[in-house]
Amino acid sequence: MEHTMSTPSALSIVVIGASGDLAVKKIFPALFALYCRKLLPESFTCHGFARSPMSDEQFRNLLKEHLTCRYTPGETACRQYMDVFLNRCFYTIGRYDSVDDYQNLKAAMEKHEPASMQVTRLFYFSIPPFLFGEVAKSLHAAKLSEDHPGKNACRIVVEKPFGRDRSSSDALTRELSRVFTEPQTYRIDHYLGKEVVQNLMVLRFANLIFEPLWNRNNIAHVHIYWSEDIGTEGRAGYFDKYGILRDVMQNHLLQMLALVAMEEPLNLNPESVRNEKVKVLRAISPVTLDDIVVGQYTAAEYQGKQHNGYLGEDGVPADSITPTYAAAVLKVHNRRWDGIPFLISAGKGLHDRKTEIHIAFRHVPANIFAASTSIPAANELLIRVQPDAGISLNIMTKVPGLRVALRETELNLSYAAAFTGEIPDAYESLLLDVIQGDKSLFIRADELEAAWDIFTPVLHDLESCTIPPQPYPFGGHGPKSALALAALHEITPL
Ligand SMILES: NC(=O)c1ccc[n+]([C@@H]2O[C@H](COP(=O)([O-])OP(=O)(O)OC[C@H]3O[C@@H](n4cnc5c(N)ncnc54)[C@H](OP(=O)(O)O)[C@@H]3O)[C@@H](O)[C@H]2O)c1
Repeated sequence: MEHTMSTPSALSIVVIGASGDLAVKKIFPALFALYCRKLLPESFTCHGFARSPMSDEQFRNLLKEHLTCRYTPGETACRQYMDVFLNRCFYTIGRYDSVDDYQNLKAAMEKHEPASMQVTRLFYFSIPPFLFGEVAKSLHAAKLSEDHPGKNACRIVVEKPFGRDRSSSDALTRELSRVFTEPQTYRIDHYLGKEVVQNLMVLRFANLIFEPLWNRNNIAHVHIYWSEDIGTEGRAGYFDKYGILRDVMQNHLLQMLALVAMEEPLNLNPESVRNEKVKVLRAISPVTLDDIVVGQYTAAEYQGKQHNGYLGEDGVPADSITPTYAAAVLKVHNRRWDGIPFLISAGKGLHDRKTEIHIAFRHVPANIFAASTSIPAANELLIRVQPDAGISLNIMTKVPGLRVALRETELNLSYAAAFTGEIPDAYESLLLDVIQGDKSLFIRADELEAAWDIFTPVLHDLESCTIPPQPYPFGGHGPKSALALAALHEITPL
């Protein structure tokens, strides 16, 4: 996305929960990458805030382990960049509800903020959401939350999960809105920062050839597929409270669906883009129990190793009905998509690890190449989000030779082969947007409401009726009933 906004002249970035995985492995490395690419203002400082006792030096050593030299090849150059960057990183030990501790943080920030410049203060909430309210209140009490034109401007970044359903999400929004305005609030969904996802709008609206075909007359179905071949990897406590529907589908997959299905925005203004996303999300009917299959992986041998079932993972209650897999068929009720199934499926403990969007076109009517034994395959546009980012189009081709024989072949755009530069990490791209004040790739409050409205009824039904998820072996393709759901909607399984 083009950055139409501007870089502030001075910047203080505060990561609340700086001792955590996300901060250390994603946020600070992304800030370092922006620094190496000269995308941070001359005057910037980064502050970590958390309860874990650490000195500035210990904090810097912790961060250093995860900084990479991607943008500054050469050991000496890289070390110089790291030294300067790390010298601008500071750590404040603090409790999340202690105004005094935020006053200490404020003093540390002010020490480096040039009095003559307007300073943008960015607070990244890298903490569990139940702490959002008290952190917001304490920031307010410490007078860190307000905008003072000409002096400082404040922005907050909040991470999913935004609640567990529509009402808890609304409550979270209300709680934060007591302190921060909607324009100050950046709700992050890191899938929107992935290059291929950002390319969806370009693919659709900067090329002539797709848009005339992008509708119910030519597209048979869309399948958005997300899989991991690992379990909960030490995060079972978190995962069991949310499950795959809340952790992956309601946010990442629905956001991708919105970009695939929305109408062309009036322009690239963030509000124009988000208006179209909200409109299409509101056109999707709530998922019902008939539209969904949920599953849970069981113990199995996979790739020569015995894997626990979900119920055998540390921290998971023995009677947990939290789904580790879900497939749901969504319908978009508008002229463009009426009757077209959008299958979204996500699972942990599957046989592969990838995120893909399959756009399946209809068969050629009265195809003159259709033999009595076989019908030529329909075209498919495949958008590979990860790994191996790329786009490919399956087309029918004549196999060279003296006879007419057809074969499905692939026009393949591999990002790795086509683009020589480094592909930025999603957090780099999104943090730059926050710094520059571009909200196109962040979730607006009404967008969040619309996304929860699609999943809240079925989540309540699954939980209140204690519907057990279908078992599937670790390393497999998910529960068999997912195949039946796909078949019901004439969707070919992947
Ligand atoms: N990791 C990811 O890839 C990812 C992806 C999407 C969203 N998220 C969200 O981003 C947030 C941060 O992720 P993370 O992986 O860094 O989480 P985390 O390690 O569980 O938490 C970050 C920090 O918050 C503090 N904290 C954790 N649990 C707490 C508790 N019960 N009470 C008080 N403080 C607590 C800890 O700092 P101190 O003990 O030092 O205060 C911890 O280092 C998560 O809450 C999650 O919702 C993470």
